[in-house]
Amino acid sequence: MSAYPNTSTVCQPLAVLGRDVEVPLVSGAKVTYAALDYAASAPALQRVWDDVAAYAPYYGSVHRGAGYLSQLSTDLFEQSRATVAEFLDLREDDQVVFTRATTDSLNLLAGVLPTGTEVFAFETEHHASLLPWRRDGLTVSYLRAPRSPEEAVAALDEALAATTAGPRLVCVTGASNVTGEIWPVRELAATAHRHGARIVLDAAQLAPHHPVSVRELDVDWVAFSGHKLYAPFGAGVLAGRSDWLDAAEPYLAGGGASRTVAREADGSVAVEWHRGPQRHEAGSPNVVGAYAIASACRALGEAGFDALVARERFLIDRLRAGLAGIPQVRVLTLFGEEHPRVGVLSFVVQDWNSSHFSAALSAEYGIGVRDGLFCAHPLVRTLLGGEEAAPSECGAPEASLPGERSLNAIRVSFGAGTPDEHVDRFVEAVRELVTDGAKWAYRTEGGRCVPDTRRG
Ligand SMILES: Cc1ncc(COP(=O)(O)O)c(C=O)c1O
Repeated sequence: MSAYPNTSTVCQPLAVLGRDVEVPLVSGAKVTYAALDYAASAPALQRVWDDVAAYAPYYGSVHRGAGYLSQLSTDLFEQSRATVAEFLDLREDDQVVFTRATTDSLNLLAGVLPTGTEVFAFETEHHASLLPWRRDGLTVSYLRAPRSPEEAVAALDEALAATTAGPRLVCVTGASNVTGEIWPVRELAATAHRHGARIVLDAAQLAPHHPVSVRELDVDWVAFSGHKLYAPFGAGVLAGRSDWLDAAEPYLAGGGASRTVAREADGSVAVEWHRGPQRHEAGSPNVVGAYAIASACRALGEAGFDALVARERFLIDRLRAGLAGIPQVRVLTLFGEEHPRVGVLSFVVQDWNSSHFSAALSAEYGIGVRDGLFCAHPLVRTLLGGEEAAPSECGAPEASLPGERSLNAIRVSFGAGTPDEHVDRFVEAVRELVTDGAKWAYRTEGGRCVPDTRRG
């Protein structure tokens, strides 16, 4: 009998692709794959896949064809923009720019900041929101990892108070890709605005799990990725205020961004750029990606975030209750284990190397998690105790022998498509590995920890 509360009060998981995929275990048996790496890329919603398949025969060029299918694709592309605007509860004169993903969105924003802009980011950010600001014409101040939401707000307040007027931007994540903890976005936005600064929300991990209202949070821009929002077709979004976007040079120079291009008498070429989203969408846009994002927004909206959040909370509680019974597991947290989080949790296991542990979860239980530093090296090192380790590649293990002290962590993450069984299997697998050890021998190959089938 299960030790957990029953599921009758929470909604069922949404249908996602790959829910029945079987993967081989190192033993030769097969098992249904437990995808617990949603924070990296979530599986596509079946609904998104079906919508894209239904659209595929009508696929055509956007903004440039006279034919029926081109016009249809252009309409769908623009409708997708409107759907995203609704999903994010944008203000009237905000705009939605389709990009490749969150990293692309934040680099786009970095490129439109007025010269001299001072950027503030906590060192706890994902590299996508930590690094784009390091460029000529901008200065960036990194704020130390806060240990509570109140400390975060106070640190920002102090940092902004110490600056003089001029363009300033605060960049903050909505939910950490390492701890899953939800950041006090509304309070940080109020603080930024009180000092005359603007704020961009990195919603890569928040938007798939929680409603994001730009109006309510009062952020100036928001960025997210389709592939984390159950729409893996290579598109992302930067949405928000138009003024800086319209005043800047286009992100990419080329067709689509240019309104008119004329040859001048002196042989040069004069360009008038579009205003609005097209200005930063040069080249043929990813219409399928945009359409898929819109489909995911509609599907999440129809499922209802109240139900999705309730279900996720149920899974988080189940996971935390299970891990709490395994004393060798240390959950990584900035704000304390009770702080609200999305379905993302990182941990280390005493006397285990994280890469070895994750490899065993995959090879012996068919469970896909991630190990590493999760493209948030300063944060993970702080949470692990500040070891000064040699920098490693994003996500690459730094050591892989069983028993060696871990300089990286294990992350388990899930969302709208996760059945209870995946979380239960995960907890039981952790308990078994900690109690009985791995059944197989492991070795390092190409920087990864793999079962040593030669010795099996
Ligand atoms: C919080 C956060 N921001 C930004 C990114 C970058 O997203 P993408 O790789 O889709 O550009 C990620 C990816 O994991 C993330 O977790």
